[in-house]
Amino acid sequence: MDKPIFWLPAASTQGVVVDRLFFALLALSGAVLLLVLVLLVTFAVRYRHGSKAKRGALPRLARREFEIGWTAATFFLFLFVFWWAGSANLSEFQPPSDAMEIHVTAKQWMFKTQHPNGAREINALHMPVDTPIRLAMTSEDVIHSFWVPAFRFKRDILPGRLTQGWFRANRTGTFHLFCAEYCGTDHSLMGGAIVVMEKDAYARWLAEQPEGDDLGKQGEALFVQLGCAGCHAGRSAVHAPDLAGLYGREIPLSDGTKVLADERYIRDSILQPRREIAAGFEPIMPSFAGTVSESDLAKLVAYIRSLASPSLAPQRSAAP
Ligand code: CUA
Repeated sequence: MDKPIFWLPAASTQGVVVDRLFFALLALSGAVLLLVLVLLVTFAVRYRHGSKAKRGALPRLARREFEIGWTAATFFLFLFVFWWAGSANLSEFQPPSDAMEIHVTAKQWMFKTQHPNGAREINALHMPVDTPIRLAMTSEDVIHSFWVPAFRFKRDILPGRLTQGWFRANRTGTFHLFCAEYCGTDHSLMGGAIVVMEKDAYARWLAEQPEGDDLGKQGEALFVQLGCAGCHAGRSAVHAPDLAGLYGREIPLSDGTKVLADERYIRDSILQPRREIAAGFEPIMPSFAGTVSESDLAKLVAYIRSLASPSLAPQRSAAP
C-alpha cells in the first residue's frame, strides 16, 4: 500500500477526469474568492470615512448593462460546469461493451469477488491494467459500498438489487478498497486490496488460481437442481418461455410494454416473476425470493446469459 500522502494520485482513467474537475472547481472558487476579497478591501479603503471618493448614483444605463452582463456571465459559466461535471459522471455508468466482468458479493463484513473463469477472492481483487473492468455487485444482507479512493470510484451495493460500475486502471500497484457505508460492528474493518497488474502478470496469476467452474457452468447445475429446467426446457409440457437467445432481446410484456432482457430483468423475473410477465404466457412461475442466495442468482443469470446465441447478442458499440 502507498504511504499516507497529502494527495493520493489517481490510478484510473475516471480518476484523472474527476481530479481535473476538482482542480478546475477549486481554481474557479479560488478566483471568485480572490475577486470578492480584493473588491472588499479596495472599496473599504476607497470609501472609508472622510475620503474624497465620488459617492453618487451610477448612470442608469451602465448600471443595467453591468447587471445583465455579470448575471449572464456567471449563468453560462455555471451551466458549463454543470455540463462538464454531468458528462464526466455519466460516463461512469456506461461500461464499454468489451469490459471484463467481475462479480462482487458483499456481506457483513467482507467483499467476495469472482473472475470470469470462476476464480474467487475474498477482500481482494486482482485485475489487469489498462483494461475496462465491469463490476456486477449485490449484497447478501445490508447496504455496503465499494470504494476505491485511488480510482475515485464509490458505488453502493444494495441487497436484492444488481448495482453496476466500471473502471479502467491506468497504472499498476496495490490500492485500498474500503466499505463506505456504515454496515454494522465491523464496518471499519471491511475492506481489502485492489491489485492492478500488468496484463501478462495477471494472466499468469489467474492461471495459478484454483479455477472452479465458471459462473455459467455453476448456473447450469443450479438450473437443473432448482427445477427450472422442468418448465423452461424446449419439450416441457408446461408453457414457459424458452430461455435460449433471451438475453439482450426486447421482450414484449403482457401489459403491452416492452422490456430489455438484461441482467436486471432476469434477476427480477426469478425473484418477482409476476411483475413483468412475457406476453402470451400465464403467470404461473413461483418466486424464488428467499430460496436462492445472491451468489446463486448471479450464477443463474450467468447461465441464462450464456444461452444467448451470438447473433442475438446486444449490439456492440464500435468505440470502446
Ligand atoms: Cu460493509 Cu460498511
